[in-house]
Amino acid sequence: MNKKSIIVTVFFTLILVLAACTDGEQTTNGQSNSEIDATKETDEEVKADDENSTLPNTELQKLDEGDAVTELQNILEQIGYTLPTDGIYSGITAWAITDIQLQLDDLDVTGIYDEATQLALERVLAGELTVESGDGLPPLAEPVTTGSGAIVVGNPYDQLAIINKERALPDDYIPHGLVVPDVSFPFEEDLPKKQLRAPAATALEELFNEAKETGHELFAQSGYRGYDTQVSLFHAYASEHGEEEANIFSARPGESEHQTGLSMDITSAAVGYQLTTDFGDTPEGEWVAENAHKFGFIIRYPEGKEDITQYQYEPWHLRYVGVRAATEMLENDQTMEEYFTENE
Ligand code: DAL
Ligand code: ZN
Repeated sequence: MNKKSIIVTVFFTLILVLAACTDGEQTTNGQSNSEIDATKETDEEVKADDENSTLPNTELQKLDEGDAVTELQNILEQIGYTLPTDGIYSGITAWAITDIQLQLDDLDVTGIYDEATQLALERVLAGELTVESGDGLPPLAEPVTTGSGAIVVGNPYDQLAIINKERALPDDYIPHGLVVPDVSFPFEEDLPKKQLRAPAATALEELFNEAKETGHELFAQSGYRGYDTQVSLFHAYASEHGEEEANIFSARPGESEHQTGLSMDITSAAVGYQLTTDFGDTPEGEWVAENAHKFGFIIRYPEGKEDITQYQYEPWHLRYVGVRAATEMLENDQTMEEYFTENE
């Protein structure tokens, strides 16, 4: 035998010895691996296990990762959704949750797995309620772009949807659950722009109440704007300033966050109830910048981030994203664009 043959023979002998030892290896509970093989669950048993899996007991949203997300995805799969069970709460999981929220009564339609959604899903699992994949929010057959080249988002209801010059809302999108928040407005008329989606409206009330308690009186100037209103508004600004200049402070139709029902422009008496950058230097504006996140709002177009947001600094424009996302964005000094691209 030459040297190479000896090495090969020794190598295979070693493998055989190791395999023999492993075969008889005892596990910590005293069962041998071959016994475990013999008792391996059949496919039916695995399925039965899945059917016993429980819904996570914690709020979950986009960017979340881990076992709780996998548990949720397993349940979604079990009730008829086709989605990856990879433990990553990406757009497709948010879509499935939104689709469910649209089909069941009395749920906030946000794409966030919250307590009310958990309770509703428990009833689906118990056979008391039914949902059908895609019946609430059918998935887009293919990507759609607007005349100005923006992609039309597939899930406009998503509370964490980024709406900007690259990502537009569908022209026929009208948010779910618009209500008028119980806050002060600097005008009397009952206009649609007083409205916000319910979770944002409640949060705005809390923000304004807390501001008042600390001596800051805030006023809500402009919230929900339908697509057609944005058409008229942008057209008027574009006629006066030219499209390019207008687009620094006013969004093209479909690209305005105001159509989400999650944004409110706020102001105060100190700036004559106007929407002006001076608001950022008033005690009210400074208080809002420091405290809005506690109620789930961000200053969507911050100073110094104009290159990222592609809009001028707007200390008055609040966007509701929920407390967790708002706090993380403030702590990390991130715009929505940065929060999602840097955390994906
Ligand atoms: N002023 C913001 C960018 C809007 O028009 O939605
Ligand atoms: Zn605004």
